[in-house]
Amino acid sequence: MKSFLSVVLCGAAVVALASSAGNDSEISFEYHRYEELRKALVSVWLQCPTITRIYTIGESFEGRELLVLEMSDNPGTHEAGEPEFKYIGNMHGNEAVGRELLIYLAQYLCNQYQQGNDTIIELIHNTRIHIMPSMNPDGFEKAALQPGEIKDWFVGRSNAQGVDLNRNFPDLDRIIYINEREGGANNHLLQNMKKAVDENSKLAPETKAVIHWVMDIPFVLSANLHGGDVVANYPYDETRTGSTHEYSASPDDVMFKSLAKAYSMYNPVMSDPHRQPCRKHDDDSSFKDGITNGGAWYSVPGGMQDFNYLSSNCFEITLELSCDKFPNEDTLKTYWDQNRNSLVNYIEQVHRGVKGFVRDLQGNPVSNATISVEGIGHDITTAKDGDYWRLLAPGNYKVAASSPGYLTVIKKVAVAYSPATRVDFELESLLERKEEEREELMDWWRMMSETLNF
Ligand SMILES: *[C@@H]1O[C@H](CO)[C@@H](O)[C@H](O)[C@H]1NC(C)=O
Ligand SMILES: *[C@@H]1O[C@H](CO)[C@@H](O)[C@H](O)[C@H]1NC(C)=O
Ligand SMILES: *[C@@H]1O[C@H](CO)[C@@H](O)[C@H](O)[C@H]1NC(C)=O
Ligand SMILES: [Zn+2]
Repeated sequence: MKSFLSVVLCGAAVVALASSAGNDSEISFEYHRYEELRKALVSVWLQCPTITRIYTIGESFEGRELLVLEMSDNPGTHEAGEPEFKYIGNMHGNEAVGRELLIYLAQYLCNQYQQGNDTIIELIHNTRIHIMPSMNPDGFEKAALQPGEIKDWFVGRSNAQGVDLNRNFPDLDRIIYINEREGGANNHLLQNMKKAVDENSKLAPETKAVIHWVMDIPFVLSANLHGGDVVANYPYDETRTGSTHEYSASPDDVMFKSLAKAYSMYNPVMSDPHRQPCRKHDDDSSFKDGITNGGAWYSVPGGMQDFNYLSSNCFEITLELSCDKFPNEDTLKTYWDQNRNSLVNYIEQVHRGVKGFVRDLQGNPVSNATISVEGIGHDITTAKDGDYWRLLAPGNYKVAASSPGYLTVIKKVAVAYSPATRVDFELESLLERKEEEREELMDWWRMMSETLNF
């Protein structure tokens, strides 16, 4: 993740733009080409410098930066105990609504923060939010360059190499489906394969950049914004049998449904039970309450959503936001109105389930400890400060913390809808335990010797 400095230094014009924008910038509901996207993010950064940072996770095939705007009370650092969230837009370059909504969201959060909106202030103080409006800036430019208002259904979907980025991720579903049958890891399936990723020439630069991002930051929750339909889609996206349509529940099916609904519920179009399908012959039969299981809709191998869940602690869903992939500019404000509350409410979902710290008896953090929940075959792990976030739907659970060389601790936990229940674990190291047992044995031996007068 290199510094944004180089991008900023070439922007004298950008500074003028931002200062004229003042404190509470109006959101400009228009399309932002690459240069304009950059300027819009810089403008938010200049307006809210204490709570934002811009960075890039890498470059597209044609050399455009994959820009991220971070919002946090301490931009640039992971704070112990604070969950991390991300939004990714425009992975399909011609699906433009998500890209624009994320730019508006950044501006909205900054404005509301400055105006003293308690909900937004609390959210930014307790969450590290990463917003990447475009994962496929090359595809977007190609789509946007088409003359006229009606855009082709496919032009600009892929990256500049012709790679569909949402089919380009390592297909970890196939590994998990084998592990389910034959035993094996149920999480972090890319462990120790970083080098193989770097050397894999089939992975597009945009895909590689996101893989590194997902591996480097302890994300808890995420959404990937698409267009072409209107629904919140949750894992698994790839079916177990390889058939085209088949409900493919992940171990966290209950929570994923709840997360998808937390988005659709606040979007009056998505949640409308009488909404007509986008096109006459669309098969929307798997949609209910504005949500669908990915596999039940249609199977997607190599997608980013399942990759997040199977390679990291991050739960990701896929949001389809508009029937038109690249609608007329004058409809963008309507899409913002439909999605604004959903976008904010979905970020708040990161504060659900169980969270806390895992430490040893001396109070040192135990990183990479396993947090498992009885009855749910998907473990998550602690971050470097021993902090963890385990998203869970309301209910009573048995949660275990374990790490090689320590005695496992199991706790009963009641989880409400939100906020997350705080549960810390103290793990006793087996070495300490052995030492204790040896001492006890020695005491016993001394006592016996004295009693028997050896
Ligand atoms: C921006 O807003 C904050 C909070 O309302 C206020 O304290 C500050 O003076 C404003 N700055 C400008 C330049 O208007
Ligand atoms: C504060 O932000 C929330 C979340 O976006 C919003 O629902 C609410 O209307 C805002 N409050 C004000 C006074 O604008
Ligand atoms: C984390 O723990 C797992 C199993 O407990 C292990 O296989 C893996 O190598 C560890 N990862 C790191 C980065 O230490
Ligand atoms: Zn798409």
